[in-house]
Amino acid sequence: MVFPDEFKDRVATINNQLMASFEVMDNENLRAAMIHYPSAGGKRLRPLLATMVCEAFGGKPDKAVPFGVALEMIHNFTLVHDDVMDEDDTRRGLKTVHCEYNVPMAILAGDAMFARAFEIILESDLPDASVVRLVEILARSVRLLADGQQMDLDFEDRDVVSPGEYLEMIERKTAVLYSAAAQGGAIAGDASEPAQKALFEYGRLIGLGFQIWDDVLDLRSDQETFGKPVLNDIRNGKKTLIVVHALDVMKAPQRDELASVLGKKDATDAELARARDILEEVGSIDYASRVASEFVAKAKDELKIVKSEEHRSTLAEFADFMLSRKS
Ligand code: IPE
Ligand code: IPE
Ligand code: MG
Ligand code: MG
Ligand code: MG
Repeated sequence: MVFPDEFKDRVATINNQLMASFEVMDNENLRAAMIHYPSAGGKRLRPLLATMVCEAFGGKPDKAVPFGVALEMIHNFTLVHDDVMDEDDTRRGLKTVHCEYNVPMAILAGDAMFARAFEIILESDLPDASVVRLVEILARSVRLLADGQQMDLDFEDRDVVSPGEYLEMIERKTAVLYSAAAQGGAIAGDASEPAQKALFEYGRLIGLGFQIWDDVLDLRSDQETFGKPVLNDIRNGKKTLIVVHALDVMKAPQRDELASVLGKKDATDAELARARDILEEVGSIDYASRVASEFVAKAKDELKIVKSEEHRSTLAEFADFMLSRKS
């Protein structure tokens, strides 16, 4: 079986705990806004990773489920707010929370999910010292994520962004939840300090690959398959690695043509498609895909610390899935 099919039962366990954790909400309207994304689908990659890493070090996967569910809660909270920032109307094939409900409810739903995540971690069946570490990791991750999301917005208004700045931004907005999942899973599995460090690095590297691939899919996928709008990164003037590379290698007048569509909120479908074709022709999408593959390859090197061949290979498959996924 190819990842993630072999983990169907695990995903069901994660989903049960995730869905049950909304029951504490008294206000039905707010609860409805909070469960909108979790009940619409999603791959559950972060909780799966936490349980897989825990298992790779000999822990029972259940030990990492609360932390995984907390990460999924945080992930969904950031998606609710991200869709407001990015003015997107579709996610997981449905209307986004602020479009289905409204912006004030999207803000509140996110706030409540943020808080709920910490309550869930406290329900972990782990030694107190491990729970404290997990709380620390989650708090740090959300703080960095906010920094990354602000950098993403700041870059929309900048003409030039360096590849290093882009990588710093995605490390914060996206990779932190993958490094947290892998490190937290190692803690739940009572792995050694060096193993925790190696798994943190594995998570960070696959997270970088994951976000670069997400940027590729924004250009190469279609809304039906992707579950969210395509070409909106161009409309919003996002400085993806693809765009950063293109602006660096291109010369006028092609460069000016691309620059004129980047961030053009009322760009027509034809203009967006033309910008996409330019990025394809100049080789920037292939370039970014290659960079993403390099990160995933480096991530797999970190798995040497996992003694079990079987678990090493499942975690390598997980890493490869970052770039084979279509949604
Ligand atoms: C989407 O993450 C947000 C990004 C960081 C690009 P996922 O692709 O993991 O979203 P779901 O949870 O499966 O919908
Ligand atoms: C993902 O960035 C980062 C977070 C959601 C924190 P994107 O803005 O690329 O994510 P999508 O494409 O909307 O899922
Ligand atoms: Mg965004
Ligand atoms: Mg977005
Ligand atoms: Mg995206």
